[in-house]
Amino acid sequence: MAQAQKRDEPRSETVFQVRDLSKVYQMGEVQVHALRSVNAELRSGELLVLLGASGSGKSTFLNILGGLDVPTSGNVRYREHDLTKADERKLTRYRRESVGFVFQFYNLIPSLTARENVALVTDISPHPMNTDEALALVGLEARADHFPSQLSGGEQQRVAIARAVAKRPDVLLCDEPTGALDLETGKLVLNVLQQVNSEVGTTTAIITHNAAIAAMGDRVIRMSSGEIVEERSNASRASVDEIEW
Ligand SMILES: Nc1ncnc2c1ncn2[C@@H]1O[C@H](COP(=O)(O)OP(=O)(O)OP(=O)(O)O)[C@@H](O)[C@H]1O
Ligand SMILES: [Mg+2]
Repeated sequence: MAQAQKRDEPRSETVFQVRDLSKVYQMGEVQVHALRSVNAELRSGELLVLLGASGSGKSTFLNILGGLDVPTSGNVRYREHDLTKADERKLTRYRRESVGFVFQFYNLIPSLTARENVALVTDISPHPMNTDEALALVGLEARADHFPSQLSGGEQQRVAIARAVAKRPDVLLCDEPTGALDLETGKLVLNVLQQVNSEVGTTTAIITHNAAIAAMGDRVIRMSSGEIVEERSNASRASVDEIEW
């Protein structure tokens, strides 16, 4: 499947096309409508910020884009592929080759060094970066031999980002990547994500509770009760250091 492309290379404009996407969880007698007929598009190379209150459907939406969850109805096209029609084998391949995930908790393997954690992914990817190149991208080349317990939360998250981007995924999906970090460390991590998006050209979506973060994106989507209630483009994106927190 597709690899990340540099910003100045020609590229197809639409990475994801989402049509009438709904997700209903059946909890005994009660139905929870996590997504209600969501329509959206993600464009190649963009940095999208996804805002919304707790329970508004952000993670459900991102998980479906990443092939971690399936919708109840509706349709997601990823480039020329219909994800909603893909079988488990195809979805696994899609997740492995085309998607990088970053979560609130870094999910590093404690018994492996930073380099070995990244190598877990590069070893099974068709066109990976060199592990040290990936660690350099997040400013941690000097910490390659450190174990997660020897790294701060922000450094562990940067290793997780290095691991996610080392396979050169076409898309990078980040679910509250700064949720467990203090403000200053969170800014460092967001800086890294913005920089990776610029340098590698990976289409990136970042979920956050912090509306201030919206300024760092090319585009902002706000969700409420399973619906997209606002969608806007920033004329130019702010660098993380310019944002008033
Ligand atoms: N596995 C599940 N089973 C049942 N209900 C679920 C499940 N996952 C999510 N939900 C419900 O779907 C709705 C949307 O959840 P989701 O996790 O997408 O919200 P969110 O916007 O990511 O919230 P948060 O900001 O708290 O992470 C919520 O009402 C949630 O309780
Ligand atoms: Mg969530």
